[in-house]
Amino acid sequence: MGFVDLHSHILFGIDDGAQKATDSSAMLDALARFGVTESCVTPHQKASQYLPSAAQIAASLADVHALRRPHHPTLRLGAENMWDDVFFQRLQSGTIPGYADSPAFLIELPLNGTLPIGLDQALFKIRLAKQVPVLAHPERYQPLWRDDDLCQTLATQCAFLLDLPALAGFHGKREAKAARHMVEAGLFHAVATDAHNAEDVSRAAEGLAWLRKHGPKHAVERAFTEAPQAILAGQLPDLIR
Ligand SMILES: [Fe+2]
Repeated sequence: MGFVDLHSHILFGIDDGAQKATDSSAMLDALARFGVTESCVTPHQKASQYLPSAAQIAASLADVHALRRPHHPTLRLGAENMWDDVFFQRLQSGTIPGYADSPAFLIELPLNGTLPIGLDQALFKIRLAKQVPVLAHPERYQPLWRDDDLCQTLATQCAFLLDLPALAGFHGKREAKAARHMVEAGLFHAVATDAHNAEDVSRAAEGLAWLRKHGPKHAVERAFTEAPQAILAGQLPDLIR
């Protein structure tokens, strides 16, 4: 089993990821070379910016399935759900687009310097319902910087999924510092490429090299194969330390 990538924007023509079929092909080639054997495709669901319909997503998924070659990673549909009004309505109605055949789903939070009001209670209810929220790029959220207690609490309610390119410094200095601190403090569950194009896959490879060098024993295998599998199977795995 190779790497299981929980966060990528491979589907083309629906958000800020791949724009055309050749972009998706180039990404699949790069991901295969990188050792990814399962790619979760997670188009944005973000009310103010990118909100492709289920039909548009299904059409792009069918197109990418058609261009996929045997050596490419298998595809599993997911979504990157912004914590906004649309998400909240879906939370109430039980219609959050999650990972296919899994009780897990990917969320991202607004970057406005605070955590959403009611985040705690909402995550508590989600966990009670035996669903697994996966927090995309926790290193981006300012309230989590230098607040390990808050990270520790939040990490009992959702999986912390670090962006690999951030570990290599491609998402900014403060984000790199935060991501590396989360690794050093044992405040993460898994890693992902969050690839929007083929170049991002090279950036993710640099991040994985950093993790292999600086992370705890077996961090790469745990964070990029075992934990993602456990999450998709409906578990919140142990923090990697
Ligand atoms: Fe993303």
